Amino acid sequence: MNTVIAILLAYLLGSIPSALWIGKLFYNTDIRQHGSGNLGGTNTFRTLGLKAGLVVSILDILKGTAATCLPFIPFFADTGIHPLFLGVLAVVGHMYPIFANFKGGKAVATSGGILLGYHWPIFILMLLSFFIVLKLSKMVSLTSMVLGVIALLYTVIYNIFFETDIPLLVVIILLTSFILYRHRANIARIKAGTEPKVKWI
Ligand code: G3P
Repeated sequence: MNTVIAILLAYLLGSIPSALWIGKLFYNTDIRQHGSGNLGGTNTFRTLGLKAGLVVSILDILKGTAATCLPFIPFFADTGIHPLFLGVLAVVGHMYPIFANFKGGKAVATSGGILLGYHWPIFILMLLSFFIVLKLSKMVSLTSMVLGVIALLYTVIYNIFFETDIPLLVVIILLTSFILYRHRANIARIKAGTEPKVKWI
């Protein structure tokens, strides 16, 4: 029973469409009608500004962290599901949210939240890499995809030289694939030279 509840809860946590709800509640704006139309931190930042963008990004990160940390709650301690896979369910909820017609975000922040909950050094590495790659590329989408590849390289090296963690490797491969798949439209725009660039970095 606790296994089923954990699965549902992880998915429902991820399904919380922070960008949609923050936009509608505090700015009377449906961000799906603006910018890239994506329900994520980047489009919120683009449409509603720094404060809203930060709040949405943090909430989206925390969805992944909360789902990954569910087993710390005694009731969910013995679900038999690896914490990382609960995190993945939150990412699935984020991409296909039941509360927003199954049209959600691009998996980046919520994936980061899994890493924060499970293996924080890789989260810090991702955060630093984010600013460095963004400084060089000026494109959040490209940065997000490069981050997925960096996370994969880090995990391979970690598995070879430090500690074998096959579930982490499997989940990083899965998350990086999600991120690349969800950025299909961005990839087309990057190729066409029409992907928006940020000016603030
Ligand atoms: O995390 C999403 C970001 O990589 C791209 O967002 O709105 O520019 O498509 P957007």
